[in-house]
Amino acid sequence: MPGGEGSVAFTPFASSELPAANLPDTDLSMFHAGKALAHQPWVKAPTATDARDGLGPLFNARSCLGCHVNGGRGPVPQTAETPLFTAILRLSVPGQDKVLGSVPDPVYGDQVQVQSTALSHQLRGRIAPVLPAQDPEAPAEAWVYIDWREKAFEYPDGTQTTLRFPEPRIEELGYGPLSENLLTSLRAAPTIHGAGLLEAISQADIDALADPEDANGDGISGRSNQVWDVEQAAMVPGRFGWKANRPSLTITVAAAFQGDLGISNPLFPDQPCSPVQQRCRRTPSGNNAEGFELPADLLALTTGFVRNIGVPRARARDEVAQSGRQHFYQAGCADCHQPTFTTPVLGGERAHLGHQVIWPYTDLLLHDMGPDLADGRPDYGATGSEWRTPPLWGIGLSPEINGVQGFLHDGRARNLEEAILWHGGEAMRARMHFVALPIDQREAMIAFLETL
Ligand code: HEC
Ligand code: HEC
Repeated sequence: MPGGEGSVAFTPFASSELPAANLPDTDLSMFHAGKALAHQPWVKAPTATDARDGLGPLFNARSCLGCHVNGGRGPVPQTAETPLFTAILRLSVPGQDKVLGSVPDPVYGDQVQVQSTALSHQLRGRIAPVLPAQDPEAPAEAWVYIDWREKAFEYPDGTQTTLRFPEPRIEELGYGPLSENLLTSLRAAPTIHGAGLLEAISQADIDALADPEDANGDGISGRSNQVWDVEQAAMVPGRFGWKANRPSLTITVAAAFQGDLGISNPLFPDQPCSPVQQRCRRTPSGNNAEGFELPADLLALTTGFVRNIGVPRARARDEVAQSGRQHFYQAGCADCHQPTFTTPVLGGERAHLGHQVIWPYTDLLLHDMGPDLADGRPDYGATGSEWRTPPLWGIGLSPEINGVQGFLHDGRARNLEEAILWHGGEAMRARMHFVALPIDQREAMIAFLETL
């Protein structure tokens, strides 16, 4: 029961969008209302349907679950000709910004918005196109493609395999040249089940695992990111996102509404237009009486949905998976993929998330993962080579949840074996342990991961 009493069945089908099994019945209608908001395609303002307009003018996708497909991982384009829509290319230039976490590109901001509500963009490639030059509306920022590069890997036992890594390509720039010293970071959409339980883990339990100076000399440090909390107007530990750059679920969801969908809200009240994107700034908004496209109550509903998605139960472990479990611990994987926590007692509408023994397999801390995984782009306190340990619960169900098999922050790993082989830096010792195992025991470790 990785998600405690809220764990959900994986038969008849595995899902990352079911309500936690212990969510009180009285909260179910709210859950489903929030789910509808995460599912529904948002539309351009103004429309008669005031409750779901305000998309863009620049955006990445029309709905949350358009990227987090069925609540699971988002696909990353597999061929060089497929444009990227369901993952994000973050941007910045060198420097520090306490509030934003990185210095945005002066023209393109902190992520490439690959879509626009402009007719010329929406009709692209169809009959009778409107040319961007004749379109009074804001063009999309650019198209992003991925060139996959390969490198060979050979185990000490002679087994050969191929690893691949992405090189993003930015084309058809809508607003002139990019900064010369641009830093980019490709990020795939992670699974979102169990997010409310990750949020419930007490900060003291996470701090107890941190060892920033590696005082115990095990080669693994682990530290919290320190990020800006717009609600408290203060620096606090980060918890969500591949670099733990968001402090709370509400802020994660509100930032996604603004950055990924172009929907302004009480926490992020601006449209996703940089100061020089004039046509973008002039586009009519879908603001309601409160002055936002998404009012506070709908933000709370969407956050409530994400918070209460149940974690799929673990699958039965045969003898092989049991021996794989031993290797997982012997290799030191659990030093970062912290298996278990007990959440503190919580009250009110989060009561069911409290006092639960959970098995997320993450310490929610940043680790230096070495040069091969580095994006070279700092994010608040995280360096270009640090990443937050991702939870492993439900990881074996990815194929069933939505068929997406792209692990690690940029979706480069086509299977769990490749994901392990990319580990470096603080995880080098664990990787070496895995690599040195005989093939049947490597397979056993993967069989164990598949049961989580
Ligand atoms: C264009 C694709 C895309 C869309 C649309 C999108 N997301 Fe995400 N989401 C991502 C990516 C990529 C990340 C990781 C971001 C990072 O590491 O900086 C993420 C991270 C998250 C996380 C953090 C999960 C964790 O454990 O760290 C949550 C929760 C989330 N998104 C919810 C939402 C919600 C709710 C919406 C709709 C308002 C949404 N997302 C829209 C791509 C998307
Ligand atoms: C030093 C800390 C550390 C150790 C030790 C470690 N990992 Fe990881 N693991 C991470 C981090 C951080 C990531 C994310 C890296 C990225 O996305 O670039 C990760 C990613 C993963 C992923 C992909 C998860 C996803 O959602 O895409 C798997 C699977 C995984 N680790 C398994 C293992 C196994 C098995 C071991 C032991 C052989 C191990 N890890 C050891 C920190 C660690």
